[in-house]
Amino acid sequence: MRTILVTGGAGFIGSNFIRHMLATHDAIRVVNYDKLTYAGNLENLAAIEESALYRFVRGDISDAKAVADVFEEEKPWGVVNFAAESHVDRSILDATPFVNTNVKGTQVLLEMIRRHPVERFVHISTDEVYGSLGKDGVFTETSSIRPNSPYAACKAAADLIALAYTKTYDLPVIVTRSSNNYGPYQFPEKLIPLMIRNALTGKELPVYGEGKQVRDWLYVEDNCWGIDAVLHRGRIGEVYNIGGDCEKQNIDVVNTLCRSLAADPQGKNAEKRIKFIHDPRGAAHDFRYALDCTKIKTELAWSPRYSFDEGLQRTVAWYLNQREWTERVITGEYQEYYAKVYGG
Ligand code: NAD
Ligand code: DAU
Repeated sequence: MRTILVTGGAGFIGSNFIRHMLATHDAIRVVNYDKLTYAGNLENLAAIEESALYRFVRGDISDAKAVADVFEEEKPWGVVNFAAESHVDRSILDATPFVNTNVKGTQVLLEMIRRHPVERFVHISTDEVYGSLGKDGVFTETSSIRPNSPYAACKAAADLIALAYTKTYDLPVIVTRSSNNYGPYQFPEKLIPLMIRNALTGKELPVYGEGKQVRDWLYVEDNCWGIDAVLHRGRIGEVYNIGGDCEKQNIDVVNTLCRSLAADPQGKNAEKRIKFIHDPRGAAHDFRYALDCTKIKTELAWSPRYSFDEGLQRTVAWYLNQREWTERVITGEYQEYYAKVYGG
């Protein structure tokens, strides 16, 4: 039996990953170490919380003592580090928690695996570390690191520390950089779940600028099995891009969502509520991301299994069935945040 320590497992991708691991492996036990910030929600894991192969520990990755306690108790075979402040807009309002968690927290975990050796440490990063593309081109794993937002800069710093520790101390670190994930359990501050919630609750659909930025969309389950492949078969010291091969302009995503929701009485005519707003990201708003994923495709036989149509259909169906989930995970803090970014 192998114990995997998953940090940030109560968030969007982490909770999907834990469910994926328990559903597809017999001899894996998961310890979920999560601070439960506004983005972490144990309800995301209700289906497996009673499993003998799962344990939750509440804690902060930047708290070295608490992290040491978990390592001493659990002696994990491997670590997958999802824990992060993950939202670009929040990093523009206040970068401090991003530095504490994404940079310092990652370094604490790396120090821990120097003292408590593991077989594998997968650090979850993002295509945002590469910065922004123009209309053409793609990022490969060797593209320059040119982050633009405080979020992206903190993720880039963590990647560089992780890779430097690997070289310096011979640690078994692998980094994944994925494109924009979407799917069930995504907190409604990100484009797709925010638009679904607003469409179903009679609110405006706030598109930044002219909505022409391009993102490469990846269904979360495809990222999860890509990370699983990297964890078990990836080469130590390497970086793997994981992208959806699915570039879309934001406005096209929002229009597609409106069409998918049109049959619902509350989602009807949502496209009339699309509002182009002043871009809160300003010059930090990356125009386009696109990933070359040849490396993971050829080395680990990974490629996305879900088309955008199929992934979005599943996502919309999930949010239509889970309207209460969305309302439960947002709190007064969300209303304050929303007012700051979108205006009263
Ligand atoms: P999320 O915001 O939904 O979840 C983050 C989780 O980390 C939450 O459960 C939160 O409670 C926990 N957390 C935050 N600070 C912590 C700390 N100090 N100690 C312990 N736990 C802490 O994020 P997500 O969208 O699931 O992203 C997960 C990871 O994947 C992040 O590292 C993010 O940078 C990366 N990533 C996300 C995407 C995406 O599209 N969502 C794409 C590429 C990479
Ligand atoms: O590319 C990977 C990254 O994808 C991850 O590293 C981040 O953790 C994740 O949050 C995501 O970042 P983005 O900034 O690309 O995602 P977001 O959903 O916040 O925004 C997607 C696009 O939609 C972006 O161009 C901004 C725009 N947008 C977003 C929101 C929330 C709007 O037009 N209106 C909105 O209300």
